[in-house]
Amino acid sequence: MNLLHRLSLPILSVAALLVFGLNAGADDKMANDKMASGMMATDPMASDGQASDVKSNDTPVTYDDHVASILKKNCATCHGDGKQEAGLNLANYADVTNESGVVVAGRSSASRLIEVITSTEEGERMPPEGNLLPVEAVALIKKWIDTGLLENSGSSAAEMRTLGFQATAQTGEEGPGAVPANLPTVVRTKTQRRFPVLALATSLRAPVSAMSGYGVIELFDAAAGSRYGAIEFPEGEPLVLTFSRSGRLLLAAGGKPVQSGTVVLFDVATGKRLASVGDEPDAIIAADISPDEKRVAIGCTSRLVKIYSTEDGSLQATIDKHTDWVTAVAFSPDGKYLATGDRIGNIHLWDGTTGGVILPLSEHKKLVRALSWRSDSGVVASCGEDGTVVWWDVKDGWPLSNKPNAHADGVLDCRFGPQGKLATSGRDGTVKIWSAEGKELKKFSIADKALAKGLLQPGVSVLPTRVTIADDGSTVVAGDTIGHLHKWEIP
Ligand code: HEC
Repeated sequence: MNLLHRLSLPILSVAALLVFGLNAGADDKMANDKMASGMMATDPMASDGQASDVKSNDTPVTYDDHVASILKKNCATCHGDGKQEAGLNLANYADVTNESGVVVAGRSSASRLIEVITSTEEGERMPPEGNLLPVEAVALIKKWIDTGLLENSGSSAAEMRTLGFQATAQTGEEGPGAVPANLPTVVRTKTQRRFPVLALATSLRAPVSAMSGYGVIELFDAAAGSRYGAIEFPEGEPLVLTFSRSGRLLLAAGGKPVQSGTVVLFDVATGKRLASVGDEPDAIIAADISPDEKRVAIGCTSRLVKIYSTEDGSLQATIDKHTDWVTAVAFSPDGKYLATGDRIGNIHLWDGTTGGVILPLSEHKKLVRALSWRSDSGVVASCGEDGTVVWWDVKDGWPLSNKPNAHADGVLDCRFGPQGKLATSGRDGTVKIWSAEGKELKKFSIADKALAKGLLQPGVSVLPTRVTIADDGSTVVAGDTIGHLHKWEIP
């Protein structure tokens, strides 16, 4: 594989640096000194009126009321009670929804029926001759699929789903979480260029956040904007940071591209190294620790997901289902599931203990940038370079909400906060906050802020690489391509 290609991608912001030609040789002052604070001018977004949002309050689309007549008129001569080409009867609700496999509840994009009625390819398109269905008819059928294949208006209520979220105790642990104290002094490596924020994480149990630097991890209080100190990471670039559920451990994963990759576990209170697992020939680009702290899952450019024991460092399971780099891995807060995503947009849900297959979640068309679990373990959010954010119901892989244009040109990160709100950042230079119901609540521009604070020369672009939400849900923090942090209050 082409070396440059390999080097530029494991680290999104290095790619961003190349793409956006950010200045080399800028001063290497501590990013935290410059942690910008205060509210951005408010910019309440128009309510969410995207056509793709199928959960709007219109009259429900049902088979009996809307879909049957379209299918009977256009398809029944070949797929009706008389003739059933390809064994398919579209004139009968039970046949279409149960037997055929041509519609997948909640997912028009994965439904063969939609594929054939929108195809223009000879031999695939349906109907095989004459005009294709009008766009309105296609839209109705899509909506019928996406809202759950309702048979008639009587069947609506029970089957409609929402993103409904009840906040529960975050971790089931009592007492205050670990807070760093008296961290050892760290000698910093001077870097020639400003180092982007490649990883950012927040403890669920204490006002402690962590951000990556070159060979170093900074610990700070996101809401207060104050700094605890730093931990050395001589392995190279920490590309992934995440706190364990208990808040006691900080996982840092990364390494040196095309040389070495490892995961190190630190004690949050003291900054001491407790263990290291994995010994990869390339930097580790995705990692997470199970809620019971017994396992670490890593995602690699080798296309494998590996699950290691934290007790003895042994390899417990290997998942080889992904056909491209594994770019995101995340254990559910209850430990039941492991979600993994890859560079071509595929996501899989696994048994969190055994690594057994549960469900494929295919919606993204490009690289999956991040996976984040809601604290009740009922929903996992995914985001990627296709600009889409999806809230998945993990019971059956149903996309509860799907925002295809969450950020133009690509979504770089997504993270749930304690109250079920989701923070996202993207290549459009903005950070967005989504309500627990999946509505866009707020949009912040990082460039505006960086310019206002004098952190950015006009004309130099800067992107929000990572986002995190403070443990109390009050604040969103974004790291950028030139090593700064920005924070805003969450409404
Ligand atoms: C003139 C006859 C005819 C009409 C009208 C027709 N189909 Fe078909 N359809 C076929 C035939 C023949 C096949 C089998 C094609 C094959 O196996 O290659 C087929 C196959 C299919 C399949 C299965 C494709 C696959 O490969 O999985 C679907 C889904 C389908 N049709 C949907 C529709 C829909 C929806 C309509 C109406 C909008 C429609 N068809 C109208 C003849 C027709």
